[in-house]
Amino acid sequence: MTKDTSVLLDEKRVFKANYKIVEEAHVKNWEAEIEKGKNIDKYWAEKAEQFEWFQEWDKVVDESKKPFYKWFTNGKINLAYNAVDRWISTNKRNQVAILYANERGEEKKLTYYELYREINKMANALKNLGIKKGDTVSMYLPMCPELLVSMLACNKIGAVHNVVYSGLSVGAFVERMNASNAKVLITADGTYRRGKIIDLKKIVDESLLKCPTIETVVVVEHTKSPIKVSELSGKEINYESLIEGESDECSVEHMDAEDPLFILYTSGSTGKPKGVLHTTAGYMVGVATTLKNVFDIHNDDLYWCTADIGWITGHSYVIYGPLLLGTTTLVYEGAPDYPDPGAWWKIVEKYGVTKLYTAPTAIRHLMRYGSKYPNLYNLSSLKILGSVGEPINPEAWMWYYKNIGKGKTPIMDTWWQTETGMHMISPLPISPLKPGTATLPLPGIDVDVVDENGNSVPLGKGGYLVIKKPWPAMFRTLYNDEKRFLEVYWKMPGGVYKAGDMARKDKDGYIWIQGRSDDVLKIAGHRVGTSEVESAFVSHPSVVETAVIGKSDPIKGQVIKAFLILKEGYKLNTALIENLQKHVRYELGPVAVVGEIVQVDSLPKTRSGKIMRRILRAQEAGEDLGDTSTLEE
Ligand code: WT7
Repeated sequence: MTKDTSVLLDEKRVFKANYKIVEEAHVKNWEAEIEKGKNIDKYWAEKAEQFEWFQEWDKVVDESKKPFYKWFTNGKINLAYNAVDRWISTNKRNQVAILYANERGEEKKLTYYELYREINKMANALKNLGIKKGDTVSMYLPMCPELLVSMLACNKIGAVHNVVYSGLSVGAFVERMNASNAKVLITADGTYRRGKIIDLKKIVDESLLKCPTIETVVVVEHTKSPIKVSELSGKEINYESLIEGESDECSVEHMDAEDPLFILYTSGSTGKPKGVLHTTAGYMVGVATTLKNVFDIHNDDLYWCTADIGWITGHSYVIYGPLLLGTTTLVYEGAPDYPDPGAWWKIVEKYGVTKLYTAPTAIRHLMRYGSKYPNLYNLSSLKILGSVGEPINPEAWMWYYKNIGKGKTPIMDTWWQTETGMHMISPLPISPLKPGTATLPLPGIDVDVVDENGNSVPLGKGGYLVIKKPWPAMFRTLYNDEKRFLEVYWKMPGGVYKAGDMARKDKDGYIWIQGRSDDVLKIAGHRVGTSEVESAFVSHPSVVETAVIGKSDPIKGQVIKAFLILKEGYKLNTALIENLQKHVRYELGPVAVVGEIVQVDSLPKTRSGKIMRRILRAQEAGEDLGDTSTLEE
């Protein structure tokens, strides 16, 4: 669903960073860095030198089999080694690596040395479970230290992780589990959410009946809520007993630069979720470089990204980026408004957070309570703020800037995707900012806005957002679905990467994202495929057929609007609406927010029977229906 952002293009407000921020910044000269980035081989090779390699690479980027790009060919490296082991012999050894805090006011700190030993124990335990290099391990865990430890333990021994967001429910979970062929699942008894404990184990128990490949389930007793022993089948083992007695030393797997690192499922416009596959070295280089430059990470930072680890933002910028840079990452389990809407600001004050990275939906949500809550806390430690997940509307940007940053912290509005792995379009702290735009492509990144024929569109005109040169953290394929990988992303003229977003450039070249060009919704910044929602509706006994579109929502950005054809004898009354909402939530989880359900007698279709959601969207937006010549009736 695209928004008309043309009115924003003559945004006159421009904000510049203060002297101190510029003084500290890793990148002080934007033009010079952009110039360097034009030679991608040289630029990324230089960035790759920050790591310890077991073997040097031959070629920075191998473009011989486009779009199957390879980075740092024949290089040997290990992510966990670079994120943790290598700091043990430095003065970071006893620095806090992970600072876990939750809505109950509890906290747990793991220094780099402690984290190192925990990872080794878990890595050894995974080996004992029969996990070898290249095997997939799935995780369905809340924001807790064991999740980070398990992911890094996988890296250490060369296993591939597949983390499923703990806010997804049975239907979505089963689909992702089966697609990944995982043998081991690591999960927990529950997670804290707004004063309640959500029983994750129950969701797992129900799901596993339909997940034949899972041989072992490891359960973290996170909330210590009683799990009945009788419920523990032969397959299950408690996390603590699993690692008990394991050695805290473990050898490092020398991974090829292009060995798979993880799979992360994300929603597409049609069919099943897509298993986005990332590989090792390029991902490390891209993520560490962008975090360092965009959030200007220094030794004394206390960095907090509020994203859940179950999404790409959590992978790249809660765990991997911060640890690869040797900083302290705050991992917080809790909602922004619980126990009250000052919860996050209290955390900022308590720990002296210096860099805060969050999503527009959270800002819009907290904005409703005004400046009262942020004013109760001392937020003066903050130096840089960030935003990700969807376009941030200028009002929310201004509120964030004034009330949280007190007008002195620049906002990094970062555009990127599960597929890109790393920030692509984003300001740097020294950049002049305009509220509502992610500004310009980062150094080394070549972005354009084009028409169907691949020609750049004039400034101010809308078009497809494409990326013209390879970048190191790019995904390499869709797991077990190469055909779809080629079809969805690489069919633009010129062989450029099609991002799936519509955008415009203003007179300064700043890029304004208008929204997705496909049938993907953005609900609170989370990607939800209309087809997944439609399948969830259709699996309810009352529904014959459905079409789903996005409906604007002042806080969530978008919510679901469903048009349903009901079976004979069913009437859409309050009880059925509630029942349907519950059903969709059971299938997909709380991410699938149903805003409106309407009953219809027919749906607009092409003569070949494809539902024309475009017509429904135009109708919803009160726009002209456009070309309806292919419409059946
Ligand atoms: C889609 C990717 C990247 C991590 C979180 C989302 C939208 C993301 C921005 C931004 C405007 C944005 C795009 C993109 N998006 N960041 N700063 N400004 N739009 O990852 O779930 O893969 O979604 O999110 O539509 O294509 P994702």
